[in-house]
Amino acid sequence: MNILLIGSGAREHAILKALQQSPQQPKLFCCAVSHHPGIAGLTHARWVGDIGDVQTVVAQAVLWQIDLAIIGPEAPLEKGMADALWAVNIPTIGPTKALAQIETSKSFARDLLKKHHIPGSPRYRCFSDISGVKAFLSELGENQYVIKANGLMGGKGVKVGGDHLHSLTEAYQFCETLQAQHLSFVIEEKCVGEEFSLMCFCDGRTLVPMPLVQDHKRALVGDTGPNTGGMGSYSDANHSLPFLTTKEVSAALAINVAAINALQTECDEKYIGILYGSYMATREGVRLIEFNARFGDPEVMNVLAVLQTDFLEICQAMTTGTLSECAIHFANQATVCKYAVPEGYPDAPLNAQRLDISNMTHDDHFYLGAVDERDGTLYATGSRTAAAVGVGDTICMAEKQAEEQISQVKGSFYHRDDIGKWELIQKRIAWMQTIREKEVV
Ligand code: AMP
Ligand code: GLY
Repeated sequence: MNILLIGSGAREHAILKALQQSPQQPKLFCCAVSHHPGIAGLTHARWVGDIGDVQTVVAQAVLWQIDLAIIGPEAPLEKGMADALWAVNIPTIGPTKALAQIETSKSFARDLLKKHHIPGSPRYRCFSDISGVKAFLSELGENQYVIKANGLMGGKGVKVGGDHLHSLTEAYQFCETLQAQHLSFVIEEKCVGEEFSLMCFCDGRTLVPMPLVQDHKRALVGDTGPNTGGMGSYSDANHSLPFLTTKEVSAALAINVAAINALQTECDEKYIGILYGSYMATREGVRLIEFNARFGDPEVMNVLAVLQTDFLEICQAMTTGTLSECAIHFANQATVCKYAVPEGYPDAPLNAQRLDISNMTHDDHFYLGAVDERDGTLYATGSRTAAAVGVGDTICMAEKQAEEQISQVKGSFYHRDDIGKWELIQKRIAWMQTIREKEVV
């Protein structure tokens, strides 16, 4: 069986490792953005180029006689990669262009929830130009808003009041820059609480949740510094998170389920792939921050590290609408994932830095991200470079393993050594307690 993976970051490296472990012994292929030695070691053949070039990628898939394709990142989804692969009879993990709007358009996602009376949205309004912006910003109040551009903005399209925007004037000016770029946008109420990720496998009928994960968006220790793609993440042995109640977990899952049903009704198509809801537990209940139409990065590394079922079997069940017949098990173990990133990341990352991983003793859960191999030398290309996952009976045990491994990445890189540490987890538990106590008052 020939399996194609589109994408070549740490997320995709982890997906390929999971596929490689399948007892079905698939032959693996990859359409990548760079020469990635980790992926090269796992695949039968590779093509390196623009993975958003739908025609070329599909032609390559046909040439390789691919039986099943998996789309890693969001950009090819927006280009209609899944539509084109299904059109040549290649079953594909990743929704069609229409369904992927749940990620690619913030206003589409918000309006979908509103139209179908699905709870979980903060107060919001969609704008296609600047008129009415001042009044709505004032209505929400100083620093109580978040502005989100529609479209895939590579993490740069969201500005949070108080964090990135410090006055109504600054907020208004940001909206003006969006208008100048002919971008529509959403302004919404700023939520206060703890974020968590709930990813589900979807086959067009059934949703199967994966263990919950918490990502760390801020670049620096103590949740300071600029927002990033995610510096690391953890999951707990009971598949929930230490700061969440069972009621909050059920509320989030109910939103994922209702959103998929609403989306399929709107688009009249089946959603085959991953639905990733990014949530915040707040004083008022669970709030949806955004949906993604793919695996989270780094979150996928946490869940695959404890997946006990054949990942390929799950992919096959998604494409054949038979998820309900597939017994999916995750081990009751905790995981911690830490990313090493180039100095200066994310605002001014050092580029083309040599990466030395020769000290790495075991690489079971070590994944290369934005790297390029040239003439036998490994270079970091400026984004998240390498990730290590620790697995243990407790989050603290998993953290020690992850820390030990990621510290072996030598060169001009840094990582957050606080992710998964007891102090940070305790801080989150205490913070949610404070929030909940306010509810009672
Ligand atoms: P997004 O791209 O929508 O995930 O937004 C990026 C980050 O902005 C999220 O991870 C949150 O930390 C923050 N954010 C987005 N929407 C809100 C909101 N309504 N309230 C508070 N923070 C938010
Ligand atoms: N962990 C954030 C993302 O995958 O978008």
